[in-house]
Amino acid sequence: LKQSSIGLLAFASLPQWLTAAETMHGMPMVQPRKASVNFKPDVELELYCQNAEAQILVGRKTRVQQYTAKLLHGPEHTVTEIPGSYLGPIIRLQKGQKVRINLHNRLDEDTITHWHGLHVPAEVDGHPMYAIGSGQTFVYEFEVANRACMAIYHPHPHEATAKQVYQGLAGAIIVNDEIEAALGLPTGEFEIPIVIQDRLFDGQNQLIYAPNMHSNMFGFYGNRILVNGHPELQLDVATRAYRLRFLNGSTARIYKLAWDDGTPMTVLGVDGGLLEQPEHKPYVMLVPGERLDVWADFSNRTLGSELVMRSLPFSGVLPHMGMGMMGHHGFGLPVGSDYAIFTARITKKVSDSPKLPIQLAKISRYGIDETHNPNKAVPITISEGHMAMLLNGRPYAYKDIQDRERIPLNTIQLMEISHEQGSGHGMMGMGGMGEGGGMGMGRMGMGGMQHGGMGGGMGMGGMMAMAHPIHLHGQSFQIVSRSIDSSRESDYATVNQGFINSGLKDTVLVMPGETVRIIKPFQDFKGLFMFHCHNLEHEDMGMMREFLVE
Ligand code: C2O
Ligand code: CU
Repeated sequence: LKQSSIGLLAFASLPQWLTAAETMHGMPMVQPRKASVNFKPDVELELYCQNAEAQILVGRKTRVQQYTAKLLHGPEHTVTEIPGSYLGPIIRLQKGQKVRINLHNRLDEDTITHWHGLHVPAEVDGHPMYAIGSGQTFVYEFEVANRACMAIYHPHPHEATAKQVYQGLAGAIIVNDEIEAALGLPTGEFEIPIVIQDRLFDGQNQLIYAPNMHSNMFGFYGNRILVNGHPELQLDVATRAYRLRFLNGSTARIYKLAWDDGTPMTVLGVDGGLLEQPEHKPYVMLVPGERLDVWADFSNRTLGSELVMRSLPFSGVLPHMGMGMMGHHGFGLPVGSDYAIFTARITKKVSDSPKLPIQLAKISRYGIDETHNPNKAVPITISEGHMAMLLNGRPYAYKDIQDRERIPLNTIQLMEISHEQGSGHGMMGMGGMGEGGGMGMGRMGMGGMQHGGMGGGMGMGGMMAMAHPIHLHGQSFQIVSRSIDSSRESDYATVNQGFINSGLKDTVLVMPGETVRIIKPFQDFKGLFMFHCHNLEHEDMGMMREFLVE
């Protein structure tokens, strides 16, 4: 009785459409949003999702899915293509702008677009229930509330996000504001997007996306690193400072980024924009959905020299599977090994360069005493089983009305994301027969896969633990504290110097055995906002929940 009355209460406070017919996926049927007459946009663009072909590798073109855009009105720099790339164009917005985007679905499947990192009303946030069918149009209207930052646009349809992102549907949004402009950071050709993705190709240069039991657990991994849609990207740079805008657009792969000659990474900003001061790091972790703003100064480099951005090995985050990961698909690029991301080659001598600012942009920090309930953190728990990765103990279901996480509007919440299972001791696991025919011998001690099999085997016999990049829609959050279970400290030591905890975030890596406390505001907009693992295979498997802000 108690449960159903809570359910009724939830129903009563939800908009009318909830009682409408439901689709196959248990989502309500929602009519595609139309333009509202009262909204007077400063910027308006058409955004198309379509099947296309792209020249990625040498030889045959690759079939992809692609965003393209056409600016209807607004500043010309709003839409910038990345030459020769399957990625969507960079959409450059100004804080305070009113934006209308008409999304046209020219695919032969449902889709909807989410503006990852932007603070927009729930009805234009790309909740899967708003997915539109082939041939339909969905009109987004919002005002740019974010400070200067890099955001992402990507699909968010129910159980098909990973597949569509993998096929190519993704693009960067760059928000500018006056505070950032006053810093005189490198712009134009000296501000370079670095969108990192991994993909698996067959012998005909076509993308392979074949989720299986392994990828459901760990995510799907490619054998090629693409930057801005190109393999083995080489950047020709001059002897001056550049601003590199990184985005991890991979579905599952985590990078530990470092310059190959030991030059520290100089970090200007993260997901939610600029830090207060630049930070210098030996390496930086970049997980799916995260962004990174990096100052790269080539001033003192000699003409003709090269600097390589690499991903360094790390442990405990993902199973050390090596070649086993991909089974019969051949050689997956080993997870957690060392490989190149791109090369910067110094090809031009110039005498002038901007200087690294000492101060960047102020961050207005939320105090814990401002939170709705200072003594009680909103829990987000990560749990792992053989067949499912869960948030708050259950897989995503739209119909979980009575158990939906509910947050009062205009509150600031302390939240605790915990991955306790990772601190448990795993059993020994014997690697199974791989699809490639090899025998995988996996040691799954201490909850983590330490060594992977050769030839495709992945042990299923033991407990496992992996890190999850947790993403919360809506406003950015601040990280208050991170604590790690003592049994997981050694794995943690291989990554934690690469965390930037001082900036505004919307995606955070939670390691096995770790508890991350954050403060997040829920201001301005009521409605349903997703939170999920940004390992997109996990998301599609149901490692997702939603907040009802009311
Ligand atoms: Cu980048 Cu809900 O996703
Ligand atoms: Cu996950």
